[in-house]
Amino acid sequence: MDHSGAETPSIVYKVFTFKDKKTNTQDSLSVSIPEVLDPHYGMYVWPCAVVLAQYLWKHREELRDKTVLELGAGVSLPGVVASRCGAKVFLSDGAETPLCLENCRRSCEANGLREVGVSSLTWGEVSPELLLLPQLDVVLGSDVFYEPQDFEDVLLTVAFLLRRNPRAQFWTTYQERSADWSIEALLHRWDLKCVDVGLDSFDADEAELAGSSLPGNHSVLMMVITARTEDTSCDT
Ligand SMILES: C[S@@+](CC[C@H](N)C(=O)[O-])C[C@H]1O[C@@H](n2cnc3c(N)ncnc32)[C@H](O)[C@@H]1O
Repeated sequence: MDHSGAETPSIVYKVFTFKDKKTNTQDSLSVSIPEVLDPHYGMYVWPCAVVLAQYLWKHREELRDKTVLELGAGVSLPGVVASRCGAKVFLSDGAETPLCLENCRRSCEANGLREVGVSSLTWGEVSPELLLLPQLDVVLGSDVFYEPQDFEDVLLTVAFLLRRNPRAQFWTTYQERSADWSIEALLHRWDLKCVDVGLDSFDADEAELAGSSLPGNHSVLMMVITARTEDTSCDT
C-alpha cells in the first residue's frame, strides 16, 4: 500500500512481437511496454511508434553497436527495440514532463535494459544534457510532428545534432493529421533535407504490425532527414 499520498499509476503491459513475415527466418523479437492509464501524450504507445519500431527491426543488422538517441520518447517502443537490436541507446523527453522520463525508465526496466541512458531534452533548447551527448549515428522521433507550433523546435534540435554528427540520420514517423501542415520551408531554413520512405519497403503497410492493431487505418508516414549538402531540400 502506498502511504505517501501520491497516487500509484495504473499500468498495463503491452507486448509487441516483431517477425520476418516474407522470409523463412525464425528471427523474432518481443518487447513489453508499460502504458499508464492517463490521457497525456507520452503515457502510451502511438501508432507511429509501432511503424518506426518495425523499421528498426527491419534494419537491425545496421543498428548493432550504433549510438542512437530517441527524442520525445514517451514510453519508448522504438528506443527499446533499438536497444534490443544491439544499439547503445539514449532516451529523452521534455524537461517539463518528468512522468514521461519515468516512463522511459519503466520501459527499460520492463525489458531488462540497464545500459540505456535517460535524460531530459526539450526541443529547441540547447541544454547541458544536449551538449553532453556522445557522438550519435541515428536520432529517432516517433510522432514528434503533431503540434505545428513545435515543428521548428524539433527541427532546431535535429539540426543541432546533425551538425555535431554530420553522418547521422534522423529517422522519423509522423501521422498525417492535416494536408496544410508542411515542414519543407523549415527544412530549408535549417539546412536539412528529407527522403520519404515507403512503408511497403519495410513491411509496415499493414493495419496490424508486431501483433498490434494500433497502426489501423491511421495515415502514418516515414522520412529520413539528414544535413543538406546539395541544393534540394526534399527528395520525395
Ligand atoms: C505524441 S507523443 C509520442 C510519444 C512516443 N514517441 C510514441 O510515438 O509513442 C509526443 C511525445 O513528445 C514529448 N514532447 C512534447 N513536447 C516536447 C518538447 N517540447 N520537448 C521534448 N519532448 C516533448 C511528449 O512528452 C511525448 O512523449
